[in-house]
Amino acid sequence: KPLVVERIESVRQQVTQARRAGQTIGFVPTMGALHAGHAALIRAARQECGYVVVSIFVNPTQFGPHEDYARYPRTLEADQQLCGEEGTDLIFAPSVEEMYPPPYRTYVEVTELDQVLCGASRPSHFRGVCTVVLKLFQIVQPDVAYFGEKDYQQARIIRQMIHDLNLPVQLRTLPTVREPDGLAYSSRNRYLTAAQRQVAPRIYQALLELRARVQQGEREAARLESDLHQALSAIPEARVDYAKIVDADSLQPLEQIDRPALAAVAVFLGTTRLIDNIRLN
Ligand code: PAJ
Repeated sequence: KPLVVERIESVRQQVTQARRAGQTIGFVPTMGALHAGHAALIRAARQECGYVVVSIFVNPTQFGPHEDYARYPRTLEADQQLCGEEGTDLIFAPSVEEMYPPPYRTYVEVTELDQVLCGASRPSHFRGVCTVVLKLFQIVQPDVAYFGEKDYQQARIIRQMIHDLNLPVQLRTLPTVREPDGLAYSSRNRYLTAAQRQVAPRIYQALLELRARVQQGEREAARLESDLHQALSAIPEARVDYAKIVDADSLQPLEQIDRPALAAVAVFLGTTRLIDNIRLN
């Protein structure tokens, strides 16, 4: 099992040693409860970098007051096991005190991109994400950082932050890893009841059907969006948070599918909020 450290000082020591030995540093930030999606990121880091750091930190600043921070799954033992199997060199698992010693007063905001999709439903979520990711970059100082397309908006915003703040880190994004029935792996899938889990693949099915219609020549975003909304609403126990077609780069609404486009959805199944997305062209 890989070494687990809780202190920022210890990470710096270990990474400095690896760097002195001439290794490039690959970094996979996570909130733990690791699954096959995380494993794919770690595997890519392992292939491309000499030294692989995984952080496991359930970041309180990215959760809203009525969200699932308190009950978010914490499974360090199993996470250590998975990290070991995928060839992680170091796990950074800090306490909240270590990351946010009071009084904590500095936050990072990427404007515009954080006002749409998940940012519209979860005010200050991406401010919390950017803040913790920048802090983690400063602590680990990776050459390459790995993010999943499952959280497309998150990766887009981090890319903007890296660009705007001239951060010396290369961003790699990897495709969404799915269960055999199409459901995107998520740490939150374990909240689903058996009945919810059974219907959850219909989210991705709806996205696939949408893409098929675009491939058949439908270009009108409004029509596509309303059909997508309808397909998602028809899932038992589902409440659609949003179902949008946006410019894949600016994340702004599209009227015609006449440039790279993304369909992105957030759906509550009972109280569990699931997100997914698909590139349309
Ligand atoms: P978490 O939800 O644990 O996800 C960590 C990384 O795994 C993210 O880059 C996410 O996009 C990726 N990921 C999750 N499910 C995936 C799947 N099914 N296929 C491919 N990649 C997947 O995202 C966060 O944590 C946090 O916001 C974090 C960036 C760590 C900041 O706190």
